[in-house]
Amino acid sequence: MKLATFYRPIHGQQPYRNREGGQKLAVRSRSLAYNIQKRYKQKLVSREYSRTILLQDSIALAVEALSWMELEGLSERQALILVSKQLQIHDGSSMRLAFRLMTETTRRLNLVDYIADWALDPRKLGDWNLGVRNFLRLYIYWAHFRKRTFKGILSFLESGRRVLGRDELLPVESAFGMILAAEPKKLIANERELTRMSLETCHTEWFVRYSFRLLGRDDGLRLLNEDYSPPPTYLRINSLRQPWETVIEEIKHEGVTLSRMIELRDVWKVERTEKPLIRLRSYERGLFQIQDISSQAACQEANPKPGDFVLDICAAPGIKTCSLAQIMNNKGTVVSLDIAEARMRIWKSEIKRMGVEIAQPIICDVQRDLPLNVEADVVLVDPPCSSTGLYAKSPSMKWRMKSGDVEKLSSLQLRILDISSQHVKKTGSLVYSTCSILLEENELVIEQFLKAHPTFKISPTSMTLGSEAFRGLNEARRFYPHKDHCNGFFVAKMEREN
Ligand SMILES: C[S@@+](CC[C@H](N)C(=O)[O-])C[C@H]1O[C@@H](n2cnc3c(N)ncnc32)[C@H](O)[C@@H]1O
Repeated sequence: MKLATFYRPIHGQQPYRNREGGQKLAVRSRSLAYNIQKRYKQKLVSREYSRTILLQDSIALAVEALSWMELEGLSERQALILVSKQLQIHDGSSMRLAFRLMTETTRRLNLVDYIADWALDPRKLGDWNLGVRNFLRLYIYWAHFRKRTFKGILSFLESGRRVLGRDELLPVESAFGMILAAEPKKLIANERELTRMSLETCHTEWFVRYSFRLLGRDDGLRLLNEDYSPPPTYLRINSLRQPWETVIEEIKHEGVTLSRMIELRDVWKVERTEKPLIRLRSYERGLFQIQDISSQAACQEANPKPGDFVLDICAAPGIKTCSLAQIMNNKGTVVSLDIAEARMRIWKSEIKRMGVEIAQPIICDVQRDLPLNVEADVVLVDPPCSSTGLYAKSPSMKWRMKSGDVEKLSSLQLRILDISSQHVKKTGSLVYSTCSILLEENELVIEQFLKAHPTFKISPTSMTLGSEAFRGLNEARRFYPHKDHCNGFFVAKMEREN
């Protein structure tokens, strides 16, 4: 299987090669593969999908996915897609429960690991292999945060034993009881304040300190607590395909309840859906794209006109390219540049799905000069960032930042902005956006840029959404999960003077 070929044994973990499928699993547990093979043979005969099997499959998927995330730094979604292929579990209910298990465990990872270390004392969670370690984490989430009945907790444990094998879990059996008895609030009560806040809000100490300094203690705490639940999902209906009224009717007909976002063109909030959105026929037909309000705000701020020439810098997977083309009514040109080939393959399929006819892709490193000698009416720059605004949506991001990352990112962002600005027409506009809430990636980048490029001026926003940016950049907008119920985001529009 292709994805397993990039596997590198890390921390002494050896992959288990499943005898029948020949696929590499992250968890070195023979019984994991064995039980699933056996269960599938049974399933072929009985065709029965009981609740026990559902829980067992979900645990197998979640243990394996968490392990791949740890080994290879995959996102929650990438890991689940990989393991569903490896374990050949494609059932929607198991996938949904597994996704929830792994995402919600990852969201609370520091607290979960704290409880595990306490229960395993004098040993530590890190002393155990990937399978045991990640099952213990899932079990802590299930027992403490899912608020299951005692019977439910026991059946989770029993399913875990079946998935990983009794022998594998035997050395940590006593910890299961300890975990049940643990009272997290009491356990952390004697920690120093910053550590306690970081465990209570499930963020790194660094981010807790940063949020307090940025927003003040009360507002900072609100931001940290908002990350405790995933933000709402929004979609942009695709008026390139059909008039919006028809699109809305079709989507509603498929069991989705929507409410309109008045402030933004074509954006609706998903209140409820019976099926995952990407499984809907209306999705396949390109009648809508899933897009956060903050991201659509950046495109509306760019506001290209039909017939314009637009550069979309750092464009994959193409959400903003499609939105820009829609605002331009498929008239003019959008050139989309990005370095990541795999992400540009998704860009290509999105362009096709959404019926965009005016976009051209270029795969290149935009840190070097752009491989085209043009000046554009609008240049949109959406560079890589710390993703500190995405913590609620993708909790694994919270634990990925390393010291020095912010510095590296902000100098990359400034460089990309600088190069992009050389391709803005006189009287053209330059829009900069990130899904970060850090000053270093937003206001400070813009300040340095404006200082070095006096022909650019920040332009007033017409947007009522979001809040004013800091450091006197009142025209730039900031979005926060706890205030705007969307991803954390920053957008600034600059104009080049004649
Ligand atoms: C925030 S994402 C862009 C999201 C995109 N604008 C959208 O709306 O779908 C940042 C992108 O920057 C790209 N990137 C990172 N470094 C780059 C570089 N040196 N040159 C070009 N693209 C780069 C990444 O591949 C990634 O797709």
